[in-house]
Amino acid sequence: MESLPPVDVLGQVVAQRAAVARRLASVRHVVAIASGKGGVGKSLLTANLAAALGTEAAKVGVLDADIHGPSAALMLGARGQRPQFGPEGARPAIGVGDVRVMSMDLFLKDDGTAVRWRHYGGLAEDSFVWRGTLEANVLREFLADTEWGELDYLLIDMPPGADRFETLLRLLPELRGAVMITTPSEASMLVVRRASVGAKQAGARLLGLVENMAETAESGRVRELADAVGIPILASVPFDPKLAQSTENGRPGVLINPETPAARAILELADRLRGMLA
Ligand SMILES: Nc1ncnc2c1ncn2[C@@H]1O[C@H](COP(=O)(O)OP(=O)(O)OP(=O)(O)O)[C@@H](O)[C@H]1O
Ligand SMILES: [Mg+2]
Repeated sequence: MESLPPVDVLGQVVAQRAAVARRLASVRHVVAIASGKGGVGKSLLTANLAAALGTEAAKVGVLDADIHGPSAALMLGARGQRPQFGPEGARPAIGVGDVRVMSMDLFLKDDGTAVRWRHYGGLAEDSFVWRGTLEANVLREFLADTEWGELDYLLIDMPPGADRFETLLRLLPELRGAVMITTPSEASMLVVRRASVGAKQAGARLLGLVENMAETAESGRVRELADAVGIPILASVPFDPKLAQSTENGRPGVLINPETPAARAILELADRLRGMLA
């Protein structure tokens, strides 16, 4: 039987990293918005932060790393645009406030189209490994092949799951930092604590913690979490159904209702990040 040529795995990884690094050379700051926990407001905060950063004449992009549950295009009013392919790669969609968006959503035919991976045989137990690998491949292609152009900030809307940082850092060791999002619920804080420790161990620089859907002023339990992980609390964003409603209609609340307490908290968060990254 003819044997297959040896696969140069290390060479492939080096080449992939080089392609991502080349592409991101025109991006000043890459920041991941993460949590570990699902449903805590990563996507809503990413969209509003992007819009907030964009108000100061900065050029901003959002990479939707949630391949299975993409929502960045929806929240930035960029749904329905199809990606255009030029000689340099795929052009992102343009959302409100001129925010550039790359998301799996742009590639799906209609609202009824599910994200499914073709199964390449192998044992059933292998399928989650395949899925993980293919997901990482899509993320790598989004990172390496999107024509962002010059950007001041590229925000990465992370999927839920505590282990996602390792994949991201493998592709993107130059990641500038990560903002961790939690709600004040015990269930969220437990997951976020573990995810934050894991992210630090994987080599991520955690810029700080954001409390979202806060019911009172900054909760003592969130302060304990921040101290335990050794990161600052950057903002406490109140629960605000109107902010959710407008953002889910593709109009981030910071742009249309900038005077509400929630919008003000996000605008201050943007100022703080601008300062930390300058
Ligand atoms: N401060 C807030 N006040 C009220 N609703 C909010 C707030 N933040 C987020 N939401 C709403 O909560 C829901 C979950 O938010 P979002 O989708 O941003 O979470 P996520 O962490 O990205 O979730 P996933 O892990 O599934 O990607 C959405 O309907 C969103 O509009
Ligand atoms: Mg999300």
